[in-house]
Amino acid sequence: MSASSLSSAIPPSSPTRAIRRARSLGGVLSVPGDKSISHRSMILNAIAQGDALVQGLSSGEDVMSTMHCLQAMGVSIEPAGGPGSYTVKGRGPQLAEPSDILDAGNSGTSMRLLSGILAAQPFMSVITGDRYLRERPMLRIVQPLKQMGAQIMGRRDDSLAPLVVRGGSLKGIEYDLPMASAQVKSAIMLAGLCAQGETIIHQPALSRDHTERMVSAMGGLVEENGLDLSIQPAMLNAVDITVPGDISSAAFWMVAALCHSDSRVLIRGVGLNPSRTGIVDVLQEMSSGGGIELLDQRVEGGEPVADILVTPAELHGVEIGGDMIPRLLDEIPVLAVAACFASGDTVVRDAAELRVKESDRIATTVEQLTRLGADIEARDDGMVIHGTGRLTGAECESHGDHRLAMSMAIAGLLADGETTVHGAADASVSYPQFWQDLDLLLEDVR
Ligand code: S3P
Repeated sequence: MSASSLSSAIPPSSPTRAIRRARSLGGVLSVPGDKSISHRSMILNAIAQGDALVQGLSSGEDVMSTMHCLQAMGVSIEPAGGPGSYTVKGRGPQLAEPSDILDAGNSGTSMRLLSGILAAQPFMSVITGDRYLRERPMLRIVQPLKQMGAQIMGRRDDSLAPLVVRGGSLKGIEYDLPMASAQVKSAIMLAGLCAQGETIIHQPALSRDHTERMVSAMGGLVEENGLDLSIQPAMLNAVDITVPGDISSAAFWMVAALCHSDSRVLIRGVGLNPSRTGIVDVLQEMSSGGGIELLDQRVEGGEPVADILVTPAELHGVEIGGDMIPRLLDEIPVLAVAACFASGDTVVRDAAELRVKESDRIATTVEQLTRLGADIEARDDGMVIHGTGRLTGAECESHGDHRLAMSMAIAGLLADGETTVHGAADASVSYPQFWQDLDLLLEDVR
């Protein structure tokens, strides 16, 4: 779909939120628990033996979708006192047949990872999602899971949800991942835990490795050798998990504070898993090392964590592609905002996967930033942003995409005049407190 056809294809969502250029930005905040780790903490503990205390779970709608699907399959997940604290009672690998359709909402991670679990269950289940998720590609998980022995059907030749899964006994496979997707890798690994024999996955590039880390911490056998990994069938032991702050959410404030001329923002407890820190590396390259300080670096719950202090910096354009892309894929819309305020051109290539995210993020990012006067062009596998050092407030639209809504809010904080974001509430998919935190950064300096 071309960028220009998008505005007429999708009606504007509500509610809206108006933002004016911030006079200054300052404060201390904590972002929600990492979304990827949150999903895995629920799913892996659900199929483990024993009880686990999960703390710092994301309250985003995506993670709640995973939780509700697991509860519908008989998994007890109860609040444990304190925000983001839950007790998960592991059932072992055998879940209960759900009595109704499972709803993954907007969450690709829920649908793909849970399909890996459903593939091994000796019952029939149906999993669906919202109108955006029902248009996202599922053949990428259906094919390997079928090869392992599951029966899966979906719309359009089994490529789109709703998916009907009749699982059962699976066999390990050797699989060449066609794309560097942690969701696909994880779906195969989860099925592999319940299969007979070893499962081997060859990756085209490294993607986030939270599943590998958590399965190993729970006593599973995962071996990694460069881009190849193998997993053995195993009964996992439940583990307590403290979920670090989500670097993908922190990225919004990092860009806002770097690009503003009067800012000082401290983001506490952000996860810095090396498979996720592409945004820090690229912003530091753009600022020649200025503006971002990693403080109190530590390891919490098996993941590296730090507080991130961000202050203004002069940015210059960069070229990104190849192995860097999976390390910052979700941050590219907000990186495009930063690139508008950099000197020179920023080129993003090898990022065609952006076209099959919550929206076609190449088309929607280019279209929305163009509305604010950005000099930006879409490419088949990325975009080119000619930094002009300014944006001008305008009406813009989330296209049902949480990260686009938040990226445009950051653009609005930095643009001259007023910006209106339609679909502002979509932020709740990953960051329910986003608008409150934005107000906090504005208030703190009043
Ligand atoms: C995720 C993996 C990424 C990312 C998504 C969450 C995960 O998708 O875009 O937001 O938790 O595994 P792919 O790895 O499928 O590209």
